[in-house]
Amino acid sequence: MSQLYSLITLLQLVGVLPIVAIASGLRHQSPDICKLIDSQIPGRISYPGSEVYDASVASYYSGQERELTPHCIFRPTTTSEVSEFVKSINTNSRKHARHRTDSRFSQPQFAIRGGGHTLWPGAANIDNGVTVDLREMKSVVLSEDQKMASVGGGAVFSDIYPQLVPYNRTVMGGRVPGIAVGGFTTGGGLNFLSRRHGFSCDNIYGYEVVLASGEVIYASASSHKDLWLALKGGSNNFGIVTRFDLAAFPQGEMWGGAILFDYTKSNLEAQANAFSNFMDPQNFDSAADMGVILGYLNSGESEIYTLGNSLFYMDGVPNPPVFQPFTSIPSLEPNTLALGSVSETVDRFGEFLPPHIPRGIELVYSHENSDASLFTELFQIWEDGTKEFADIEDLQIQFLVQPQAVTNGTNSFGLEPGRKDIVISVLTAAYANAADDDIVEERLHAIVDKHVAILEREGLYIPYKYLNYADKSQDPIGSYGKVNKRRLQAVSKKYDPHGLFQTGVPGGFKLF
Ligand SMILES: *[C@@H]1O[C@H](CO)[C@@H](O)[C@H](O)[C@H]1NC(C)=O
Ligand SMILES: *[C@@H]1O[C@H](CO)[C@@H](O)[C@H](O)[C@H]1NC(C)=O
Repeated sequence: MSQLYSLITLLQLVGVLPIVAIASGLRHQSPDICKLIDSQIPGRISYPGSEVYDASVASYYSGQERELTPHCIFRPTTTSEVSEFVKSINTNSRKHARHRTDSRFSQPQFAIRGGGHTLWPGAANIDNGVTVDLREMKSVVLSEDQKMASVGGGAVFSDIYPQLVPYNRTVMGGRVPGIAVGGFTTGGGLNFLSRRHGFSCDNIYGYEVVLASGEVIYASASSHKDLWLALKGGSNNFGIVTRFDLAAFPQGEMWGGAILFDYTKSNLEAQANAFSNFMDPQNFDSAADMGVILGYLNSGESEIYTLGNSLFYMDGVPNPPVFQPFTSIPSLEPNTLALGSVSETVDRFGEFLPPHIPRGIELVYSHENSDASLFTELFQIWEDGTKEFADIEDLQIQFLVQPQAVTNGTNSFGLEPGRKDIVISVLTAAYANAADDDIVEERLHAIVDKHVAILEREGLYIPYKYLNYADKSQDPIGSYGKVNKRRLQAVSKKYDPHGLFQTGVPGGFKLF
């Protein structure tokens, strides 16, 4: 999840409908595993109907995740509590294995959550299981030399940034509020500094991990290197990460925000031209991160198309030359472009974001840069595609085109290190009703299928799919390539021989 709705909700200033949250209401009995953990680790379990449980469930980004009702929520505060939890799950799993036919012993399953921003159901929540909400593990410690920030396994970046601003330092985290370290970095992590330093995960020195056995180990370049690398893209498949040692970079003020344009043919062409030039390695500027964002809204009374940019410049220069092809296009007032700290910039973006959406789906793909006419063609296909499901209640559709991280290759993605001309595109739809799930998914896929067909025809398509933007119907781990996937599977077999994080944690993208 990244810049979803930043511009659309900016439009709320000019009178666009507010997004309504859906509450979940189902109640379950508390099974043995919750009682067991509650007795072993008192005070960390909450049940449906309690304030803590309800607040946790209500804080997921999408309605699909809020709808799931775990038997209980476990909120650990220390690594040893996480370790004890995993050991209890194991004890219960063994009991289950001995009594396979006895329904009193159901195999305990759990979900792992941080920010809870992935849209699709089950990614970080679970029906009839235990959800481990890591957000109480939020400590931030800057090393003596200020080059490393050690953060708790559930730390939220918008709470980390302000703690580093007094030191003129930052870490590579989410660009919007509410994104936590676990899902973001184990899926990759696109950040303002990604053109300079790569994915967030390329810049993690070490991970404290609770393995399936309950054992706590430290994975780094010099110990358990295979696991260290696997955690850079392998998502929740290897253990529960209880501490991340992140590279902390010197950072003064940055410049950035959002800017809107009339959605006209000539402005679309100007954007296509500007973006194609921006992606040309000859114009590369490592301080620049940005996106082109096309939006569609159906408010019931009117249909609105929007066009905008997110622009971010890390070297603290307002309107730098690299962005002038965008900023010289006649724009609408107001915009939110300003100088500020990373923390202020992220919060300023957040002021225009809804804390959650009723229902949503997101699809991602990658391709090489090309000339402007290709982008114009992709924009037109998107616009034509929106007309195929324009009547869905409260539909919002966004097409975000942005530069890929310039990776240094310290990850599992199989991308060419140093490459600067890769584009990552994400299509997102938000809408009101579960009854529309199938039609929205089908119509959004139809747009992506047409985009991919053109990119394949032009020889520009790149199989890599960024996990953090991928829908469950996509296969990001498969997109890393056979060799990388096999390597991830081997690491899973070594550190989790009984596959606890494959079958005991059914949510997320699995390895087998
Ligand atoms: C941070 O940077 C600002 C602006 O350059 C400077 O005034 C301030 O002294 C710096 N703070 C530290 C702790 O280095
Ligand atoms: C990539 O960056 C990280 C963090 O800065 C560093 O530890 C790693 O050695 C780099 N890898 C390469 C291949 O340069």
